[in-house]
Amino acid sequence: MSTHIGARPGEIAPHVLLPGDPLRAKWIAETFLDDARCYSEVRGMLGFTGTWRGQPISVQGSGMGQPSLAIYVNELFSEYDVESVIRVGSCGALTGKVALRDIVIASGACTDSAMNRIAFEGLDYAPVADFGLLRAAYDAAHGRMLDVEVHTGLIFSADSFYAARPELTARMVEYGVLAVEMEASALYTLAAKHGGRALAICTVSDHIVTGEHTSAAEREQGFGAMVEIALEAITA
Ligand code: ADE
Repeated sequence: MSTHIGARPGEIAPHVLLPGDPLRAKWIAETFLDDARCYSEVRGMLGFTGTWRGQPISVQGSGMGQPSLAIYVNELFSEYDVESVIRVGSCGALTGKVALRDIVIASGACTDSAMNRIAFEGLDYAPVADFGLLRAAYDAAHGRMLDVEVHTGLIFSADSFYAARPELTARMVEYGVLAVEMEASALYTLAAKHGGRALAICTVSDHIVTGEHTSAAEREQGFGAMVEIALEAITA
């Protein structure tokens, strides 16, 4: 067992889907995986391993925000020999180019978090997705008929859900940022640190411009297309 994950060595697959919400991890395991079994309930942050099309896959909740995600991602890479992690999460659309329920594949993640600034002593590290996973997710998304659009581009990993300075988020949009969430930047940096592969795919759960939002039930159990794209990409 690691400090925060109650799995024995070998119980976590090399490929992991990482939703923020542990109940979404349970829903993904029950809906998409064969023979899924729960390997960790520590702090309610559920983790499961099963198979998808015959390949072992794990699904681990990460919690909300970069400090929580960093705990699980560090332990997955350093203590369980995990190779690839795809975050399957939600995001808020920042521009009219992106609609509610659309999917955003994050090629890179800007942030207002101090985690990287501290790690790089003030230098600006550029957290980017693993290109192989990004290309596989792009191909998986564009090779299927979807009733939503799929965008590939920059997102903003904010430390605060309730922005203290919304005008700074608006400036991000002027520089091409599509959506806001709270985890991808730390995921990309930690994957690079550990020599692993990472990608974040997010479904738009709320729209900062129009004020629209999805229901809590849809956030927990919806977003099936995003999960299928992630499963195809991580096993490609
Ligand atoms: N995740 C989903 N919607 C979000 C938003 N509006 N801000 C930050 N993270 C989010």
